[in-house]
Amino acid sequence: MDFRVINLHELGDERGCLVALESPKHVPFDIKRVYYIYGTKPDVSRGAHAHQNLNQLAICVSGSCVFKLFDGRETNEVRLDSPTKGLFIGNMIWREMHSFSEDCVLMVLASRNYDEQDYIRDRDSFLKLVNQA
Ligand code: TYD
Repeated sequence: MDFRVINLHELGDERGCLVALESPKHVPFDIKRVYYIYGTKPDVSRGAHAHQNLNQLAICVSGSCVFKLFDGRETNEVRLDSPTKGLFIGNMIWREMHSFSEDCVLMVLASRNYDEQDYIRDRDSFLKLVNQA
């Protein structure tokens, strides 16, 4: 499955902490877009889609949440609970995010601009596509 956890280098001193993200040094694609999700209500699940052609790096810059990843065969769960932990997700991975903490700010770096045509939001269509690949 095309995902991996990337440990982000923390630059800290007596004043506090800082993480710098540069392509391609820390992020394995050119960053075209950044968005962040916050104020997610308790017991809410988000995502529930896959992308045909998009690389993303997700980081909980505050709080925590859990990514459930599915490639049509296996399922993996990754808990993001540190600003120094990045989750890289490649193409054709069905993702759902859940267990958001109240203070969660989930930042996502993406390799392409927003394009609704790139989304697969129907799980049956996703399964058909990955099973014929
Ligand atoms: P949605 O895809 O439902 O969010 P989630 O990541 O939880 O699956 O996106 C919510 C709304 O925001 C939807 O109307 C699409 C819009 N949106 C943009 O306009 N640009 C973006 O970069 C993203 C990620 C979403």
